[in-house]
Amino acid sequence: MSNRKIKFGDLIINDEAKELINKALDSNFVSGGYLVKELEKEWGRLFGYKYNVAVSNGTDADIAACMALYDFGAKRGDEIIAPALAFAAAGNSVLAAGFKPVFVDIKRETLNIDPEKIEEKINSRTVAIMAVHTMGKPCEMDVIQKLAKKYNLKIIEDCCEAHGAKYKDKFIGQFGSVSTFSYYVAHIISGGDGGMCSTNDPKIYDVLTSLKSHGRKPGSLYFDHMRHGLNFRINILPAAITLEGIKSFWEVFNKRKKNLNYLLEKTKKLRDFAFFNSEEPYETTSPHAFSITLKNPKYNYKKLYEFLQDNSIECKRNFGSMPTQHKAFEFLGHKLGEFPEAEYVGDNGLHFGIHQYLSKEDLDYVSGVLYEYFQR
Ligand SMILES: Cc1ncc(COP(=O)(O)O)c(C=O)c1O
Repeated sequence: MSNRKIKFGDLIINDEAKELINKALDSNFVSGGYLVKELEKEWGRLFGYKYNVAVSNGTDADIAACMALYDFGAKRGDEIIAPALAFAAAGNSVLAAGFKPVFVDIKRETLNIDPEKIEEKINSRTVAIMAVHTMGKPCEMDVIQKLAKKYNLKIIEDCCEAHGAKYKDKFIGQFGSVSTFSYYVAHIISGGDGGMCSTNDPKIYDVLTSLKSHGRKPGSLYFDHMRHGLNFRINILPAAITLEGIKSFWEVFNKRKKNLNYLLEKTKKLRDFAFFNSEEPYETTSPHAFSITLKNPKYNYKKLYEFLQDNSIECKRNFGSMPTQHKAFEFLGHKLGEFPEAEYVGDNGLHFGIHQYLSKEDLDYVSGVLYEYFQR
């Protein structure tokens, strides 16, 4: 057996980031301060988002985005449409913000919400659609935007796994009212932790700024709470590391994309066995991870998972169906079978890292392990 270890992601803190941290420490600002402002400005500049509010992590970004809806007429208990399968933060944040998640099945080929199944779930209590661009693949935003317009709904784009992805020549995060990002280690730009809410709407920006600080009146030094908020503050450690990462964003993105495309090419002959990441001509996917969803359960997900782990390839399940495959959501009353595509992917899909520190030899090794599994 090889002594290689294919980790899911990695974070190497370079000298520039260390210098930024030291500078910030010298200024005696540990929470907030100029470094956070700088991060918001540079983040906005990277993708053209006008207003940016840095928060403590991607989950908080999702919660804040949902809570902002109260300023636009939403009431507690109203409904937000969300994909049945995604990282659990998507469902948890809707609940934490006081809304009911209404789950819609996904497409097994794309891992994203099935746009054809959204409209039947819209009713008078629906206030928003949460579009999660899972595994770096943009959702079908044309259809989602049309529905949002028809029913006067807000769109929240969860871009936590899709930094830098494009849909029809526009960066994702530009199609809804507010978009959310995570800087957790596995993600393309990482501060160890951290997150961001981005918007082009000045009113939403004001609301987010207030929500981040227990709903205080923006700019007020006094305890004058205008709305129900929480503490979503980020501290300087992740802010400094992320800020440094913005500078090398495209270099990292391109290296990861090269890795992804190389492994996709190498594993071409395995496509009878599984769906891998796909990319349409009208989109640019973000190289978040390498995804495998078996085309037939007979190829045995459990064995594949164990085989990869035994060969030191760190992998994770393709999330599972939130409403029907996780005990956490049982209280919502859904029954197994309601979300067949999400459940299929939850039982037959996994993903592993494609990060910038992997070499060609690492990728050749991964490809070899995959051929060994499928062709034995
Ligand atoms: C789609 C999605 N949304 C939200 C989050 C939550 O981000 P964080 O871990 O920074 O809270 C993640 C995290 O990995 C994610 O993949």
